Amino acid sequence: MSVLPFDQRDGFIWMNGNLVAWKDATLHVLSHGLHYASCVFEGERAYGGRIFKSTEHSERFLTSAQLLDFEIPFSAAELDRAKQLVVDKNNLQNCYVRPVAWRGSEMMAVAAQNSTIHVAIAVWDWPSMFDVEQKMKGIRLDIADYRRPDPLTAPCRAKAAGLYMICTISKHRAERRGYADAMMLDWQGRVAECTGANIFFTVNGVIHTPIADCFLDGITRRTVIGLAKKRGIEVIERRIMPGELTGFEECFICGTGAEVTPVSEAGPYKFTPSAISRAMIDDYTAEVRPKQQAA
Ligand SMILES: Cc1ncc(COP(=O)(O)O)c(C=O)c1O
Repeated sequence: MSVLPFDQRDGFIWMNGNLVAWKDATLHVLSHGLHYASCVFEGERAYGGRIFKSTEHSERFLTSAQLLDFEIPFSAAELDRAKQLVVDKNNLQNCYVRPVAWRGSEMMAVAAQNSTIHVAIAVWDWPSMFDVEQKMKGIRLDIADYRRPDPLTAPCRAKAAGLYMICTISKHRAERRGYADAMMLDWQGRVAECTGANIFFTVNGVIHTPIADCFLDGITRRTVIGLAKKRGIEVIERRIMPGELTGFEECFICGTGAEVTPVSEAGPYKFTPSAISRAMIDDYTAEVRPKQQAA
């Protein structure tokens, strides 16, 4: 299947306060963001034309930039309005929303205090597939060689481009080996997350998930924890060592892109997607679905 490259599509992209034609949303090759990874972004989804948890994403976007020592020159409310405008102008209902901010071209060295901060928002079609039976088969995870870094070595709470270098390498290796994704450990060898999603396990009706102290505390992760608690399911956030995975029954990952996706295997560890995974898929689906379409 050939997919139209992202720079050759039609529509509108919001750039630094204005809507521009898709092909005109360009930056110079000498941009600090490209050379020195001074770039943060968000990944969001609209369902039925409305962005799920838009303000939480806008706030995380602003925080990510601050953690990289720059200020995005728009407020969360302005970003929320801009994102909705791009969804509406591109006439999309179910789509991915990608805000990105980066340091520009004024300084091409490590120090870049005088750079202009650029912000863009693009959207693209991403239908929501609520095929539960397909999902319940579970995906297979490799175990990545790279580990989530020590918080003293990287701004790990930021959704920053630089932190994805090891994710891309790990995901490529996983795919080459026939897996859907890779589970990453952290710098202390504890279970952390996947290359673009958080991870959960279950045993005896209780959900266990790693403490998000050195990886992205996903907005979906927090949503799923809230939904589980609402059902009366206990959720324990704790340190989980890989050796403990033999004792778990179910495993699922979650994120804006993954939504809730059950896992059947992570390296040598096997899981059987069942009641809790299904319940979390159902609850998350109901949560994101636009209210007027809800059953
Ligand atoms: C590395 C990583 N972890 C976790 C997540 C989940 O975050 P969210 O639920 O906010 O999409 C993502 C993004 O989707 C991610 O890229």
